[in-house]
Amino acid sequence: MIWLIGCKGMLGSEVARQLEQNKYHWVGTDKEVDITDREALSAFEKSVETSSYLDTTSTDKHIKWIINCAGYTNVEQAQEEAELADQVNNVGALNIARTARSIGAKLIHISSDYVFNGKSSQAYTEDMPKDPLGVYGQSKSAGEEAIQKEMTQFYILRTAWLYGFDGKNFVYNMTKLMNSQNQVNVINDQTGSPTCAVELASVILKIIEKSDNATEAFGKHSAPAFGIYHFTNAGQTTWYDFAQEIYKLGKKSGKITQDCTINPCSTAEYGATVERPAFSVLSKDKICKELKIKLPSWQSCLEKFIKSERFNPV
Ligand SMILES: NC(=O)c1ccc[n+]([C@@H]2O[C@H](COP(=O)([O-])OP(=O)(O)OC[C@H]3O[C@@H](n4cnc5c(N)ncnc54)[C@H](OP(=O)(O)O)[C@@H]3O)[C@@H](O)[C@H]2O)c1
Repeated sequence: MIWLIGCKGMLGSEVARQLEQNKYHWVGTDKEVDITDREALSAFEKSVETSSYLDTTSTDKHIKWIINCAGYTNVEQAQEEAELADQVNNVGALNIARTARSIGAKLIHISSDYVFNGKSSQAYTEDMPKDPLGVYGQSKSAGEEAIQKEMTQFYILRTAWLYGFDGKNFVYNMTKLMNSQNQVNVINDQTGSPTCAVELASVILKIIEKSDNATEAFGKHSAPAFGIYHFTNAGQTTWYDFAQEIYKLGKKSGKITQDCTINPCSTAEYGATVERPAFSVLSKDKICKELKIKLPSWQSCLEKFIKSERFNPV
């Protein structure tokens, strides 16, 4: 049994869809089981193990995996609500790690490129020193450390510039703006790697599959090693170039129906209130080697996303 926490969020909805599609036994919770409340997590876990409403055998009711897609994700608001951001992203992660450890479950937890300060000129590897710039990044970094201190059977996946079908995101925002305005200003001095939730969710499922089907051969265990991994789509871009690609693909697919001029601007000109990493490209060498996967380019993932029938900017 897999317990998906944050199942109604942007990433969580995609993971839920893929778990369902691949016929996993899973249960999902969101805000109704508050991760800042350790007792609420324990009570839910017990209710699953003893429940009769799930049409599964008693062994299937044992939670072997917890996937945590819940989080406090509003970077600007976190500056004003530091205590709440810390409760959800740090204390919440700790509570989940404790719950996982107490039942012997493995944990997959999602973290962020914002744990870095963005001053590097080369792609960040997993072992590079962290130095978050704002409250959100600090809370995500503290959550990672809480998990690392509490348990060993974890996979922390740091991702970046995430967009998906079921939630507010840059691709949807741009599409809406480009369909309603004839000019948009977009920041061109921040560089990163977009990540479509579809690919991130499928990597989460791949970790579970590889681990569940692991074998011993020549004294070596084939399960992916526990630890921290980076995952985004391949390549890098600025928000400005990302917006240009959205416009091009939106026009081509008929999802953007009017002309719009995209103006590059600096973070300072844009008037951003929170400092964000200027360069947050993550090296994905470790995950590619461990899972034996090749990463699709961010442009090809964006094209599939925009062309999809599920594309619905709300
Ligand atoms: N979005 C990005 O660009 C990005 C980039 C890097 C990393 N990440 C990380 O990726 C993960 C998923 O992000 P996302 O964009 O899918 O987030 P999201 O859409 O904001 O989803 C998070 C979910 O967690 C729920 N939640 C909030 N507080 C909770 C609590 N106390 N107990 C239980 N559930 C709670 C939220 O409910 P409400 O919506 O009702 O608050 C929401 O359903 C997060 O860990 C995030 O930090 C995101």
